[in-house]
Amino acid sequence: MPETPESTPRPELFTWEFAANPYPAYAWLREHAPVHRTTLPSGVDAWLVTRYADARQALADSRLSKNPAHHSEQAHRSGRVGIPGERQADLMTHLLNIDPPDHTRLRRLVSKAFTPRRVAEFEPRVQQLTDRLIDGFAERGSADLIHEFAFPLPIYAICDLLGVPPEDQDDFRDWAGMMIRHHGGQRGGVGRAVKRMRAYLAELIHRKRADLGDDLISGLIRASDHGEHLTENEAAAMAFILLFAGFETTVNLVGNGLFALLQHPEQRARLQDSVARGERELLATAVEELLRYDGPVELATWRFATSPLRIGGVEIPVGDPVLVVLAAADRDPARFAEENTLDLARKDNPHLGFGHGIHYCIGAPLARLEGQLALATLLTRLPDLQLAADPAELRWRGGLIMRGLRELPVAFTPQLR
Ligand code: HEM
Repeated sequence: MPETPESTPRPELFTWEFAANPYPAYAWLREHAPVHRTTLPSGVDAWLVTRYADARQALADSRLSKNPAHHSEQAHRSGRVGIPGERQADLMTHLLNIDPPDHTRLRRLVSKAFTPRRVAEFEPRVQQLTDRLIDGFAERGSADLIHEFAFPLPIYAICDLLGVPPEDQDDFRDWAGMMIRHHGGQRGGVGRAVKRMRAYLAELIHRKRADLGDDLISGLIRASDHGEHLTENEAAAMAFILLFAGFETTVNLVGNGLFALLQHPEQRARLQDSVARGERELLATAVEELLRYDGPVELATWRFATSPLRIGGVEIPVGDPVLVVLAAADRDPARFAEENTLDLARKDNPHLGFGHGIHYCIGAPLARLEGQLALATLLTRLPDLQLAADPAELRWRGGLIMRGLRELPVAFTPQLR
């Protein structure tokens, strides 16, 4: 994709065309207005940060608070942005909405329960889930990989990890479906879904406290730091944010990742051969590259200036919201050679797809595991998988923070058992 020449006018942001391919507009912003104040579709004004160096600095700057109380506009506090239904006060105290020292305490406690080891031990279960989902459509020769694969996989995985009993997991699938359909909206259905999920988690935590197991919720209840524990409310809010933050992101890693692979047949063939030989190295760099090239989180979550600061030489007034555009930073030619090229073997790849600084994604090991197993298993079991639609016709979700497809129709030779 060539750089936009200087003479071109400023591209329109947040249109449907932009949603389908925001990268030319981000290239323009990086070049001409790297720290840019804009009015979002919600009517809220915010700064977009698009260069890699500025993005890293902003993500780690303690003068940028995650607490929406620091926003100068009443609009934010009244719930025009953020997690659907999060106006329910007890949900407001999740990791992505708080600063140190509260953030430090909660993060330390959850880190004790949500360990890389717990995730590694979970691998056989994720493999089993992946295979079960593929079994559901393998004989048919066609599928919508968003609805039949990318969407249910992380829901069932996180439910299992948390310790939600199998008989209740389909309820979660329905609630999550309502949340993703109206992402960012305040429509009644979303609020109801969040409320039910929250109430269910509170009840489950209450039950688990009386009968601790080896699941993550029991781990959250057990975790203590210098004698401090999570309260039942904090544990419920934590379970909810793990589910919420780990769900649509992973759907989009699998969806955007497959879409990119299907459009780059040579790269895909290399990966397929490598996976068929039982290698893991290319698979690991491939998932990192897919996170960089077209990652699930287009914009990092909201930050608010608590004191005057400069980003990229631009003064940000106190109370102004700052949105770091991860998708733009990860294609900054000042940091990434051949920034618009998908190179699954890319070695020098410090992408910001999982963020940076104290809010760096706590679920990255799980996301990597799910992403790697999902792609490897699909390519192995359905080796002639092809897109069954014109790529230009596919619809993207219009949300602000996440980037993902609404559907991904594919065709392949039916796999008879
Ligand atoms: C491919 C999948 C994923 C991507 C791309 C992703 C990306 C991110 C990013 C960019 C952030 C930082 C946001 C910011 O600073 O504004 C973040 C934070 C977070 N992620 Fe993920 N995530 C993924 C999967 C997961 C999973 C599977 C979980 C949990 C099960 C999870 C849980 C969280 C939590 C709890 C935070 C907040 C951490 C904090 O504030 O300290 N994520 N994620």
